[in-house]
Amino acid sequence: MLEEKLNQAIEILKRGGLIAMPTETVYGLAADAQNPEALQKIFTVKQRPADHPLIVHIASKDQLMDWASDIPACAYALADAFWPGPLTLILKKAKHVSDLVTGGQGTIGLRVPGHPVALALLKRWGGGLAAPSANRFGRISPTTADAVREELGERVELILDGGQCEVGVESTIVDVSTTIPVILRPGMITAQQIEQVLHKATAQKTSNAPRVSGSLESHYAPMTPTVLLSTSELHRFINNLTDNDLPCAVMARTPLASPKAVSVVAMPMSAKAYAHDLYAVLRDLDKKQLKKIYIEAVPVDAEWSAVRDRLQRATA
Ligand code: TXA
Ligand code: MG
Repeated sequence: MLEEKLNQAIEILKRGGLIAMPTETVYGLAADAQNPEALQKIFTVKQRPADHPLIVHIASKDQLMDWASDIPACAYALADAFWPGPLTLILKKAKHVSDLVTGGQGTIGLRVPGHPVALALLKRWGGGLAAPSANRFGRISPTTADAVREELGERVELILDGGQCEVGVESTIVDVSTTIPVILRPGMITAQQIEQVLHKATAQKTSNAPRVSGSLESHYAPMTPTVLLSTSELHRFINNLTDNDLPCAVMARTPLASPKAVSVVAMPMSAKAYAHDLYAVLRDLDKKQLKKIYIEAVPVDAEWSAVRDRLQRATA
């Protein structure tokens, strides 16, 4: 069954088509990273601006040299520590790499995804697969095959169903093309974990140039107006609730006795479980024609940084 689907996927990719593949973070919309026409289709289907670079997925770190040049030792150290897994490395690009992949920049994003279906596909494929998250531009990334179908429908030829994504938020992106590694997008692999491997400090991205589309303020946003509240603000809101506020939903981590017809979603206490559920819950609530979604703020600890980042964007 999977064999058959994988063969089908390879056929489609070979003739320049698009497929959706599961990864451990979110589903990706994949195309042959060396076929300009196929790459162009990604931008058309996602309605994504052309200057937003794509991540190239490979089967193992042995393929780094096919895509990158001047690879520093720290890139291999991170690859050894975290691949396959939710980490993307930004490196100087190899000469042949298309501007469609890099957004016209001198660097390329590379990652070995930690999902058995993605790895099986990449091994068979042998080359690189460019794959952004399989959502329309600015929307919530899909974490199930059904969510991909909702986002892209007939515009993707085949969806490989790998179940619900384990991590649930996009990979950590670290730029190792500069002397000081820079975290461009927080993910479930934290800055601290990266620093432990590299034995040096990292920097956080500061400028807001459109290098990382996930760094646009209002990225990953539901259509329903969504508001972030501190725990006390949330309790005050619930206590002063009027019919005007209804219907609405609350995503809370602390127990809440809700007096009226509010959909209360009890969110997990751990960052890992929260990240796993986040996009699925938002997507589900977004279908309910609510006036607003209220989200209780999460802890400021390092392990919550990816979730905090996505919540800020969802409510921007
Ligand atoms: O977890 C993930 O990374 C998922 C799965 C499918 O692998 N992919 C993903 O792709 O989130 P996308 O395109 O939605 O986000 C990739 C981010 C973009 O924000 C893009 O700007 C950034 O990676 N990126 C890619 N190449 C880059 C480069 N050379 N320099 C800076 N940022 C880059
Ligand atoms: Mg995306």
